Amino acid sequence: MSESQHLKITIVGHVDHGKSTLVGRLIYETGSLPDGKFEAIRAMSERRGMPFEWAFLMDALQAERDQGITIDTTQIRFRTALRPYVIIDAPGHKEFLKNMVTGAAASDAALLLIDAREGVQEQSRRHGYILHLLGIRQVAVVVNKMDLVDYGEARFAEVASNVTAYLACIGVTPAEIVPVSAQAGDMIATRSARMGWYRGPTVIEALDRFTLPADASDQPLRFPVQDVYKFDERRIVAGRIESGQLRVGDRLLFSPVNKTARIASIEAWSVPNQPTEATAGQSVGITLDEHIFVERGQIASHADHPPIETNVFRAHLFWLGRKPLVAGSRYKLKIATAEHQVEVQSIDRSIDVTDLSTKPADRVERNGVAEITLRARGTVALDEFRRNQRTGRFVLVEDFDIVGGGIVGMEGYPDQRHGLTVKSTNIKSVESLVTTEARWQANGHRSAILWLTGLSGAGKTTLAQELERQLFRKGMHVYVLDGDNIRHGLSADLGFAPEDRAENIRRVGEVAALFARAGVIVITAFISPYRADRDRVRAIAPDLFHEIHVKADLAECERRDPKGLYKKARAGQIADFTGISAPYEAPEKPELVVNTGTQSIEASLAALLDYVGRKLALESGGR
Ligand code: ADX
Repeated sequence: MSESQHLKITIVGHVDHGKSTLVGRLIYETGSLPDGKFEAIRAMSERRGMPFEWAFLMDALQAERDQGITIDTTQIRFRTALRPYVIIDAPGHKEFLKNMVTGAAASDAALLLIDAREGVQEQSRRHGYILHLLGIRQVAVVVNKMDLVDYGEARFAEVASNVTAYLACIGVTPAEIVPVSAQAGDMIATRSARMGWYRGPTVIEALDRFTLPADASDQPLRFPVQDVYKFDERRIVAGRIESGQLRVGDRLLFSPVNKTARIASIEAWSVPNQPTEATAGQSVGITLDEHIFVERGQIASHADHPPIETNVFRAHLFWLGRKPLVAGSRYKLKIATAEHQVEVQSIDRSIDVTDLSTKPADRVERNGVAEITLRARGTVALDEFRRNQRTGRFVLVEDFDIVGGGIVGMEGYPDQRHGLTVKSTNIKSVESLVTTEARWQANGHRSAILWLTGLSGAGKTTLAQELERQLFRKGMHVYVLDGDNIRHGLSADLGFAPEDRAENIRRVGEVAALFARAGVIVITAFISPYRADRDRVRAIAPDLFHEIHVKADLAECERRDPKGLYKKARAGQIADFTGISAPYEAPEKPELVVNTGTQSIEASLAALLDYVGRKLALESGGR
């Protein structure tokens, strides 16, 4: 039977809550044990003068597997009348969490095991949270050791209601809550007369009610490049298809280089005829019809459903490192086959998995969960975890050790692909016959882009307008591009979603560069919250760009609230509001900071005028 028909399940729960016993039972009662195994273990128990323990069975199976297996995930199989199952599990608690986070133990469904006497414990909460984190939505709760609470309905109801309440907080609705005694065999495969009050399914029935995951081959194509092999003239791009399908003749887009080429052939290993298509789960090599730059780490997709490209993203992180995680620390990020250097830009909040409270934090301790923002040196191709689990999951590595794992979210951050892509072809730049320098001479001053960035209410517009007036009075060629105005015209089609803002800034940046090349001092007043966007404007005209941080902290801007927008945003009437529900990334090395939070408008203006006087005089060296 093919691999894909298995349902992969994880049994999470405290060892003392009877996990091994449950597994032993499941295997035995479904008749999935190798012949003679049960008898052998019973005989062994007798020889040692010990009562038979189901847990021995699992230990014995595990020991056998451990000898022949290199990965630390042990896989135990059983089958019901309906279908085969693989229990994905690992012996130790920490390893287990690590395997789940790193994807070594990606499973389709989970049984959450709880001791009827102890009820929901800290560990159960942690496990429940991890399931939530990893998007495992099919969960059944098994309340074990019912024999030790006299098969009492009242105690079961109490535990059931606690666990339901906790899971509800993390958005998980248990499919079933089954009272069992794994030791005595009640409600595992057969109904139990001792719990006549229970009407729901047995554990086996609950498992069979889970649905198989949507086929990864139906998702958009993700083919992370593992290696490029050179055979004589040909170059074979090898990797594993993580999702979707590819066919000979398909045009592939390689991210983040954004080069495309068609598949000339699919080279499968050890098959008589070369295939014309391949699908998720297969490892293949392909050749391309054009020589484009392809290397390990890139992700091939179809052009209409590409991965996200970004240098900054958010993550739900599970931290395993001995040393706590702190903002500013650097790690190697591994995502699909790519490796990138990343820096922890911020720890946005830490999550207490026991009561799900969140709080600001400046560090994440071992086994802690936090939401963080990571910034990479280069552009990373990735997916949000909710869209693609395989390319939306990463690990952080330090000195060859995995120190953390997590899943990608993009809340508040744009896909930067649009700004990185040039669609037009067959174009050639023309040089103006009038140089910018000649214009400077004619105007009597240099031109520039004075890029004001800062929170809404920081004073960008006020300063820009006042500066414009004063420079104009001096006879200078100056013009203001202001956020609210541009959004009535050039960017009227854009809102405040992350991609829209990125596009807004891209357009303004291009326009500003044109103005500046025309000899004008252009002052821009846009929040421009993303560093990557501002950096791209700088790259358009590096010699003309001056980044000026109009700085006032959030509390001060909110106090001023000149347009009443903060109030609305706090009331939930404006979505994606910078500083409240959308990020603002302050400049790292601006050319100038004007601190409107601590000084008067006059003083800020004087600082700007002074800067212009120094930098834009003809005789000055400019930037
Ligand atoms: S940017 O993020 O794309 O640079 P821009 O500077 O053009 O923003 O526009 C910001 C102005 O739009 C703010 O000063 C405010 O008046 C208004 N605005 C409306 N909605 C929002 C929002 N969700 N976040 C920030 N500003 C908003």
